[in-house]
Amino acid sequence: MVSKPVKLAVVGGRRGRAFNKALGILSDKVQLVAICDISEEVLKIWKKNMPYVQTFKDYDEMLEKSDCDAVFIATPIFLHAKQSIKAMKAGKHVLSEVVAATTLDECWRLVETVEDTGMTYMLSENYCYMRPNMMILNMVEKGVFGELIYAEGGYIHDCRDLLFYPDGKLTWRGEASHNFPGNTYPTHSLGPIAQWLHVNREDGDRLLRTATFMTKSVAVPIYVKRLFGESHPGAKREFWKRGDSATTVIQTERDVVIVLRVDYHSPRPHNMAHHVLQGSSASYLSARYRGEDPLIWIEGRSPGQSPPKDAPAEWESLWKYADEYEHPRWKRWGKEAMKTGHGGGDFFVLEDFVDSILQRKDPPIDVYDAVTWSCIVPLSIESVKKGNIPVEIPDFRKKC
Ligand SMILES: NC(=O)c1ccc[n+]([C@@H]2O[C@H](COP(=O)([O-])OP(=O)(O)OC[C@H]3O[C@@H](n4cnc5c(N)ncnc54)[C@H](O)[C@@H]3O)[C@@H](O)[C@H]2O)c1
Repeated sequence: MVSKPVKLAVVGGRRGRAFNKALGILSDKVQLVAICDISEEVLKIWKKNMPYVQTFKDYDEMLEKSDCDAVFIATPIFLHAKQSIKAMKAGKHVLSEVVAATTLDECWRLVETVEDTGMTYMLSENYCYMRPNMMILNMVEKGVFGELIYAEGGYIHDCRDLLFYPDGKLTWRGEASHNFPGNTYPTHSLGPIAQWLHVNREDGDRLLRTATFMTKSVAVPIYVKRLFGESHPGAKREFWKRGDSATTVIQTERDVVIVLRVDYHSPRPHNMAHHVLQGSSASYLSARYRGEDPLIWIEGRSPGQSPPKDAPAEWESLWKYADEYEHPRWKRWGKEAMKTGHGGGDFFVLEDFVDSILQRKDPPIDVYDAVTWSCIVPLSIESVKKGNIPVEIPDFRKKC
C-alpha cells in the first residue's frame, strides 16, 4: 500500500529534468527521492540543484537501495522494457517514456509482468493530453464527429542534431536511424488517435493490420557531410537503414484507416504535432505551425455546406467551441498545466500515474495500450523488410 506522497525515482536524468515543473505543482501527491543515470555529468547537475535527492549510477543498485515506490523510466528507448520489467519485479510501479518496447517479445513480456505482479504500469504518452487532443476526444465522445472514418498523425521533427555526439559518434537516436528501417517513434501520433477510436475499450475499435513504406535517405547524409566531412560513414546514403520519411498505414476492425508519418530527418520548421480526424459529420485539422489555430468544420453548425449548396463549407477555429467542448480537465487545470512541458502533457501524465497508484485504479494508458501503440515499431520494420507487406497486429489483451 503506497501512502501520499508517492516516492518517485527518475531513471535517465536528461528528459527527467523536464518533469521538475510538474513535480513542483503536484508536490502534495508525489515527491522525487532518487535519480539514476550512468552519466556522472548528469548526476552532478542534479546533486547541485537538488542535494537532498539520492543519486545512483547503477540501476540495479537503485532498485535495491532506494526506498522509492515508483520509477519514471526516461532512458534510451531500447532500455525501456527491460528496465520496466526489472522495476515491477522489484515491487516498483512504472511510468515509462515512449515507446514502451521495441520488439514483440518485449511487448508480451511487459504484459505478463504487469499481470503477474499487479504493479501499476503506465505509458507516459504526453501527446494524448495536449489541449486540442483532449478537446477532440471530448467532442468524439459527445457524438460531434458522428462515425469515425479516417485519421492521420505525424511526428515530423528535424532531429538530425540529436543523432550525433559532438565527435560524430551516434547517439541512441542515431543508432535507431542507422539500424532500423521503419517507424521507431509512433506513439505521439497514434496515441491520441487510438483514444479517439476507443481502441482496446469494450465499446471501441481494434487495430488489425499495418504496412509501412519508406523513402530514401537524403537529408541525413547531406547534414553529415556538412558537419563531419565525406569520410564519416554516415555521409553515405546506404549507412542509414531508415529513410528520411516513413509512412505507416493501419486498418482497424471497424474499417477506419489510420496514416502515421514519422520524419526525423527532413529540414523544415518544427511543428509539435500533426493530426487529422474525419468523421461522418465533422472534420478536424491540427495547427500547421505555432500560433495557428487548429481547425474544425461541423456539419449543421459551421458555415456553409459540404458539398456546397448556397455556400461552400468553411473551416473555423477549434477554439470557437472551447466554452462548450473544452475537456473538463483542461477547464480545471489548463493554466497550471501550461506551465509544464509539452503543451501541458507532462502535468496530466504525472497526475494520472500518481492518482492510479494512490487510488488503486487502472491507469488511463495501461500496458495493453502501451504495447498496442508501441508494437508498430517492430511490425513496421518487419513490413519494410518484407517489401511493405501488411502484417497482423496482435490483440495483447488475449493471452497466447
Ligand atoms: N514524451 C516526450 O515528449 C519525450 C521528449 C523527449 C524524449 N522522450 C523520451 O525520453 C527518453 C530519453 O530521451 P532524451 O532525449 O532525454 O535522451 P538522452 O540520450 O538525451 O538522455 C538519456 C539519458 O539516459 C541516461 N542513460 C543511458 N543509459 C542508462 C542506464 N542504463 N541507466 C540509467 N541512465 C541511463 C543517459 O546518460 C542520459 O542522461 C527517450 O525514451 C525518449 O523517447 C520523450
